[in-house]
Amino acid sequence: MSERQLVCEYAPWEEFSPRGYLHEYYDKVGPENEALLRFLHEAYNIIGPQNSMLEVGGGPTIYQLISASQKIKRITFSDYLPGNLEEVRLWQQDHSEAYDWSEFFTYVQQLTENGQPISALEEMTRRAIDQTLLYDVKAADSENALEEDQFDVVSSCFCLDSITPDEKVLRTITRRVVDRVKQNKYLVLMALSEAQYYKVGDKTFPAVSLNEVFLERLLSEMKMKILKQGKVEHQAEQGYNGLLMCLAQKS
Ligand SMILES: C[S@@+](CC[C@H](N)C(=O)[O-])C[C@H]1O[C@@H](n2cnc3c(N)ncnc32)[C@H](O)[C@@H]1O
Repeated sequence: MSERQLVCEYAPWEEFSPRGYLHEYYDKVGPENEALLRFLHEAYNIIGPQNSMLEVGGGPTIYQLISASQKIKRITFSDYLPGNLEEVRLWQQDHSEAYDWSEFFTYVQQLTENGQPISALEEMTRRAIDQTLLYDVKAADSENALEEDQFDVVSSCFCLDSITPDEKVLRTITRRVVDRVKQNKYLVLMALSEAQYYKVGDKTFPAVSLNEVFLERLLSEMKMKILKQGKVEHQAEQGYNGLLMCLAQKS
């Protein structure tokens, strides 16, 4: 047992509450979520039109697809937990019990220059989600059935560093995700900065403590060239001090 595991007892993933997580982190568009949405808007302007995208550990959230879906034809949305995929499907079906992302769409709409109505942005996002499927990034590729081996864009937000306290595991799963990116194509990565853990309600989940320098080194080892990077400070006592945002290209 590692030192970190002795300090913290982590909740099993089965205790992750999709709604609890949404209310804790995506209740409103404050400065952190504004920074995430702005970064994604600018990143997808750099990436430009593409055919395919894989979202890894997408969770119950769709904020990360809003700008993506303006550029990308087909999004394969994946997560480890059926309950998270169910949240995304409810939103995609415009179900009366779906989580309300309208504030996030309003913010992205203000960033766009073509004056599209919010309903058009929502429709594009709903249509771009081609499939939702279970995907375990810790399992070998042969155990994960995907229709395509590689994608023009692979996106993973607060997943790779947020599902293990172990740096070696982080390396293995980052490599696995990078392998899913086509040559010369793109990786969008978000991670917690210097996290010891993070909380969802009274449950504690694991994280690897990393910073911008660590992330740069990790990606360059994997022949990924960083095109854009950003950081936003986090004030609340939730186990980390900021959010790291990164767009990289496979060289
Ligand atoms: C902190 S949440 C991030 C959710 C979302 N991407 C976001 O931006 O808020 C971490 C996500 O990783 C998922 N996860 C946990 N273990 C996983 C695994 N082995 N493979 C893929 N995803 C996993 C969880 O179900 C959860 O949705």
